[in-house]
Amino acid sequence: MDKLVIQGGRRLCGEVSISGAKNAAVAIIPAAILADDVCIIENLPYIEDVISLVDTLNQMGVKSEFVDKNTLRIDSRNIQNFCATYEATRNIRASYYLLGALLGRFGQAEVSMPGGCNFGTRPIDQHIKGFEALGAEVTVEHGMVRATGHLTGTQIYLDVVSVGATINIMLAAVLAEGVTVIENAAKEPHIVDTANFLNSMGAKVKGAGTDVIRVVGVPKLHGSSYMIIPDQIEAGTYMVAAAITGGDVVVRNIIPKHMESMTAKLIEMHVDITEEDDAIRVCASRPLQAVNLKTQVYPGFPTDLQPQMTVLLSTAKGTSILTENVWENRFQYIDELKRLGANIQVEGRIAIIEGAERLTGAEVSSTDLRAGAALILGGLVAQGQTVINNVRFIDRGYEDIEYKLSALGADICRIKA
Ligand code: EPZ
Repeated sequence: MDKLVIQGGRRLCGEVSISGAKNAAVAIIPAAILADDVCIIENLPYIEDVISLVDTLNQMGVKSEFVDKNTLRIDSRNIQNFCATYEATRNIRASYYLLGALLGRFGQAEVSMPGGCNFGTRPIDQHIKGFEALGAEVTVEHGMVRATGHLTGTQIYLDVVSVGATINIMLAAVLAEGVTVIENAAKEPHIVDTANFLNSMGAKVKGAGTDVIRVVGVPKLHGSSYMIIPDQIEAGTYMVAAAITGGDVVVRNIIPKHMESMTAKLIEMHVDITEEDDAIRVCASRPLQAVNLKTQVYPGFPTDLQPQMTVLLSTAKGTSILTENVWENRFQYIDELKRLGANIQVEGRIAIIEGAERLTGAEVSSTDLRAGAALILGGLVAQGQTVINNVRFIDRGYEDIEYKLSALGADICRIKA
């Protein structure tokens, strides 16, 4: 398994360009199956989750090829089967979007139950509730989810504000007969992006980005050429990289509105922020101030930036209280952070973070995608050398991370397994 080796203590300066949004990409690629036509998707991040999904589509007979590193051509006119096996999907959580797309287009789908994650169970009961409300029969056995049936529009109230369920029900509903209303829907930017992609194929989805989404079913969808939005979580990660190293970085190719909760929190920590149309400049010239933080569904502070903020707060002056309100157990990486000298007490969903004098380099292992990113941020500021194992988790969601950080002045290199 590849490792990353970092010599800490370098201030990051310069400009970094943000890639396309992973959590939009993993929804929009399966959504292309809904069109009996060719789709071109641009600004895709070249990351493991996208590569795995493309391999899965090709195994199903959905001809998917990279026009270039960040552009995909998907042709689902000769799809052979409606089954995504465990082998094909075990590395990507978001394979469950294939359920909504296949069920929506063909009235049948068989997809492996998504694998676990390192921060608690990842249920899909709300996804299944939505499919059954639309008229599908869903069974879960032998690790496979099977859904079949002719879909009819209906009213669905989500018991939990779920990004995945909101998107998956949208995918199933666009070709259903009649109108579907999803209430208590999630509002993340990648939900809006997926709805915009569906509408570019001729779907009729309104209200994405609010908590009520209305889908008027149409008989068929045509192909489309679509550019996905920048990744708000990658952008937030680099904003923290600038702050934690006392640097001065322009994070470019972003939508500043998507970053508002992170921007506000960094300003509270005495970081200087300057906004442009498609960029945010992060300049940390003063000592960082401890703050309290609660993760929430969008537009609240994103849970996917919680590990990155935890390591930043480990270097701020004072005590910070961080509450994780979305996932029941998303602090498992903190033991690894403690190896870098972080002083953190975890009580259930609350982390009490004492700003440490300094972090010191150590050998650590990433437990999941965003925790891995947090360890890199710790290594950037820790005194001495930090070695990060299990880099494959990080490669799932961050394109060219060591190149982007090196270009900003970090001393980081990858040791190939
Ligand atoms: C998406 O996961 C993201 N993944 C996650 O990002 C992110 O942490 C999460 O949304 C929250 O923003 C992708 O988009 C591929 P949820 P998802 O359904 O859709 C409960 C990353 O690092 N729930 O919004 O699986 C669930 O237990 C990943 O990019 C149910 O109870 O998250 C959780 O407590 C990590 N039943 C809460 O809802 C369900 O059927 C939010 O989950 C579904 C979810």
